[in-house]
Amino acid sequence: MATGSINYQLSSLSSTQQSVAWRSPSNIAIVKYWGKHGIQLPLNPSVSFTLDAAHTDTKVSFTEKIEKDGEVSIDFYFEGAPNEAFANKIIAFLQSLHIEFSFLLDYDFKIESSNSFPHSSGIASSASAMSALALCFCSIEKILTGWPTDASDFLNKASHIARLGSGSAARSVFPEVAIWGTHSGIEDSTDLQAIPFDSQLHKSFKRFHDDILIVSAEEKSVSSRAGHSLMEVNPYATVRYEQANKNMMATLEALKTGDILSFGKILEEEAMTLHALMMCSDPSYVLMKAGTLAVVEKVRAFREETSLPLYFTLDAGPNVHLLYPDEVEDQIWPFIERELVPHCVDGKVIRDRVGLGPRLI
Ligand code: PMV
Repeated sequence: MATGSINYQLSSLSSTQQSVAWRSPSNIAIVKYWGKHGIQLPLNPSVSFTLDAAHTDTKVSFTEKIEKDGEVSIDFYFEGAPNEAFANKIIAFLQSLHIEFSFLLDYDFKIESSNSFPHSSGIASSASAMSALALCFCSIEKILTGWPTDASDFLNKASHIARLGSGSAARSVFPEVAIWGTHSGIEDSTDLQAIPFDSQLHKSFKRFHDDILIVSAEEKSVSSRAGHSLMEVNPYATVRYEQANKNMMATLEALKTGDILSFGKILEEEAMTLHALMMCSDPSYVLMKAGTLAVVEKVRAFREETSLPLYFTLDAGPNVHLLYPDEVEDQIWPFIERELVPHCVDGKVIRDRVGLGPRLI
């Protein structure tokens, strides 16, 4: 992996500074993680594109406590205002990390966080938020102790910590493409953290577009946490995990060779499988909206008519991610704007693309 840029960024940290800030992106899974055990340990491997425009900026300031009271002490501000609900979640998360970060009880922390996308846009912010937070605390460890000296140790730890906060956040730490979860055919793959895609990503996928259509900004009726746990009794779970393992190898091959056709087929199969699993859970639930299906049908019809490589995927929600290569933007965007954006809440669309990973700010 090109750790050069992270190496360079880490070398700018100084042992006297008392704050650190990271910008960390969201990611979109190609092969989806759905089903977990323990503390965010995945029941199948997953692979994602790291995004760019959808990101979280987090700054952590720290001052040594005069009296050590054995508690984690945090002030949390979201988009400039104190936010008690988020603060409580973060305190509980950090409290669970005192083994990983021995300095946690010795400092008062002020955390300021904001997202590049509107909070009510229906975009899950946990991947960007948890990865930004993990990167900040790994940087504080480096400032206070000098460890790690190596960029890959730093990123490995940040991915591990991000995973403990929110599973898919483990993948946001790496540029372009990240793999998370043990697969017998993928060297160094592990459930504990994501790893970078170490083969050369084919140039067709570099700067691939992901236009995120905000079809609904309502809060989801079933959270991802509940969705993951319903997989424990899903009658199709075993075949799903087999399918995910198979799709992993085929996706990595497509990413390497630039096989956009195979990539697109898997991308859509994964999205539909994820939502089919929800529909046949007990209790059954549906997170797609009428607008989601309308977009899916129009994308398929457009592809049939034009043979242009426009594909969709879905997260655990109603919003549609539209993926296509940079070279065909001029042919595809006018269609999206004319035919698909009218299905969005207030015409809301986040124009994103494959990105180069987090950066120190
Ligand atoms: O990381 P979580 O618990 O929010 O789960 C994410 C699950 C999906 O977004 C549906 C798939 C994935 O791999 O990102």
